[in-house]
Amino acid sequence: MRRRIMAANWKMYKNAAQTTNYFEQFKPLLANSNSPARCDIVIFPTSLSVPAAVVAAAGSSISIGGQNIYWERKGAFTGEVSGEMLHAAGATWVIVGHSERRQYFGETDGAVLKKTQSALEAGLNPIICVGERLEEHKSGKTAEVLVRQFAGGIAGLTEEQFSKVAIAYEPVWAIGTGQSATPHIAADAHRLIRSEADKRFGQEAAQAVRILYGGSVKPDNIEGFMRQDEIDGSLVGGASLDPQSFAKIVGAA
Ligand code: 13P
Repeated sequence: MRRRIMAANWKMYKNAAQTTNYFEQFKPLLANSNSPARCDIVIFPTSLSVPAAVVAAAGSSISIGGQNIYWERKGAFTGEVSGEMLHAAGATWVIVGHSERRQYFGETDGAVLKKTQSALEAGLNPIICVGERLEEHKSGKTAEVLVRQFAGGIAGLTEEQFSKVAIAYEPVWAIGTGQSATPHIAADAHRLIRSEADKRFGQEAAQAVRILYGGSVKPDNIEGFMRQDEIDGSLVGGASLDPQSFAKIVGAA
């Protein structure tokens, strides 16, 4: 079985002091479980809270990541942060192509590919997000969207680059709505993504890549997802903001 990744995407929540406070509560909850031995635990605070998270996570098995980077290493790009900068701040992971970045900040599949390549060059582990919108889901276009996002954002990686990424299937209609996909729907989408990976990168690479589910994951529905062999962990938004709640989710890995 692939090693699971249990990840917390905090989005635009928690300043540095709140981040430190969270870790004070979260770390003891992990100390009493064997989850850190069984899965990768990654927390994605805002860029500004990354340094506080890195300090607070020191000595634990929790890794820290950023929620976004720009693909250039440096330059006149007001407001942006590079992969190198994130890495220098102690982050080891980064989320690329989250649907909120696609929706509100116009991120395209082409940008996703460039950001992923840049993240890898900077030594970060990318989690690339894909997923269909509500109207696409309703009109039966999920497969079409996933194939297109894979072709534009992932297929352009080299085999070596692909071996270092994880993918998150996050149907947009399930994000922050309380309306999660069923484990069955998620597993079907994961199989489709894995088959695209197989066509482009071969069977071994496709079997190795970790695909996470994200979208209204909560302590009371995580176990259903974890019963699916296809689902290699979760990218959790709202329910990761409370340490008790995220510890329960991690405990299901
Ligand atoms: P929610 O868990 O709040 O639905 O968010 C999911 C998400 O977008 C994680 O990246």
